[in-house]
Amino acid sequence: MLRIAVCVSGGGTNLGAIYDALDSGIIKDAQIVRVISNNQGAYALERAKAHGSDAICVSPKNFENRDLFNAALLDALAECKPDLVVLAGFLVNVPECIINAFTNRIINIHPSLIPSFCGKGYYGLKVHEGVLSRGVKVTGATVHFVDAGIDTGKILSQKAVYVEDGDTPEVLQRRVMEQAEWIILPDVISKIASGDIKIG
Ligand code: GAR
Repeated sequence: MLRIAVCVSGGGTNLGAIYDALDSGIIKDAQIVRVISNNQGAYALERAKAHGSDAICVSPKNFENRDLFNAALLDALAECKPDLVVLAGFLVNVPECIINAFTNRIINIHPSLIPSFCGKGYYGLKVHEGVLSRGVKVTGATVHFVDAGIDTGKILSQKAVYVEDGDTPEVLQRRVMEQAEWIILPDVISKIASGDIKIG
């Protein structure tokens, strides 16, 4: 049984897609052992509680400095002994101590086709704003291993999505989620659980 910890910051629709895939058997032999948010108000925490998961907040606001926050985040992860850590809309720079503790065991979903519209400053809606202002016609989403860089780890899966005339960042964000993110993230987790994608 693959033990999964999921880190979230906001609405948690990707977390919802993982629960759906677990409930419907698309992901087999896996369980979410803990959901961690850096943001007490994240709706993702409510989704986690509704599914009976252990759901906790580790907020930088409750620590004197970044090192203490990073150490608490590492503790919160280590405590639940995950085989896999999934960053599902986790808008925090993952510190090196966590990368080192879980090398090739952390995956992230990013809402563009890496290496486009990724790296510093590209997260959430800002990615889709960048896509629309550059005028590209195809975007998408990427699941990748997390390493010490920002969005630089090995790519595990990508799916393209068309930009349409009249798109707003919000409309495009929703289409990228529906047509790419909510599909490729559960798919990669399922392949990790079955051993088709190797971790660690
Ligand atoms: C998703 O679009 C995810 O790809 C993005 O944040 C959103 C979270 O939505 N992540 C990043 O931009 C990471 N760089 P959700 O909370 O509804 O899953």
